[in-house]
Amino acid sequence: MTSKKKKLYEGKAKVLYSTDNSYCVIQHFKDEATAFNAKKKETIEGKGVLNNFLSEFFMQKLNSINIPTHFIKRLNMREQLVEKCEIIPLEVVVRNIAAGSLSKRLGIQEGTRLARPIVEFYYKDDSLNDPLVTESQITTFEWASETELGEIFEIALRTNDFLSGLLLAVDLTLVDFKIEIGRSLKSEGDKLIIADEISPDTCRLWDSKTKKRLDKDVFRLNKGSIAVAYTEVANRFDLLPKNVKSAVK
Ligand code: TMP
Repeated sequence: MTSKKKKLYEGKAKVLYSTDNSYCVIQHFKDEATAFNAKKKETIEGKGVLNNFLSEFFMQKLNSINIPTHFIKRLNMREQLVEKCEIIPLEVVVRNIAAGSLSKRLGIQEGTRLARPIVEFYYKDDSLNDPLVTESQITTFEWASETELGEIFEIALRTNDFLSGLLLAVDLTLVDFKIEIGRSLKSEGDKLIIADEISPDTCRLWDSKTKKRLDKDVFRLNKGSIAVAYTEVANRFDLLPKNVKSAVK
């Protein structure tokens, strides 16, 4: 049995605990939802459970096609065992369709399909509101090396292709998403893995036919219940045990 030792870090949506194994940590998904750098905040019953199952599903699929992630195994309804890594302080965003901050910043109508996927980097610092940064800033300030940046681009675009197909098969369009990347501690820092979570908190997912939003924009824009929206995503992949299906109705 894997047991929690001490709390290492508490973020807005998750808590990390150490374990007996120095290479593994337990990632606990909370029910808190935040937006706009936590200016909007709410507890949504069942959100942690939903994201635990959804992130397990996406990360496991990526592992199976040799895009390495931190995911090892799900432990219970809210927790998973993940590989400990050194997080690169960047939010890596890939966009297929204009939405959110891209539409706002550049005045591109939401819903416009992009000629090719756009990769953007944001520096992870809440006190600065996670600013958009350039590749040259990333290498100059040594947040990541040039070699790592090349690898991050490749991971981001492969992940985009794979997840776009996986989601389209259940009539969901992957509009954009954010991933975080870490340096594996097992291989002296030269292997990069996807860390954090992949869930409707970190992706924009639209129903392919109706364009209905099934992601955190439902919360950001006050468009209904994210528990209902995330449950719909999970049910399209049949991920939830019977009792959970009704618990987060
Ligand atoms: P944006 O359009 O607000 O820049 O968001 C781009 C994508 O990144 C979108 O799928 C939501 C995700 N995202 C996060 O996961 N965390 C964040 O803090 C922000 C701002 C966006």
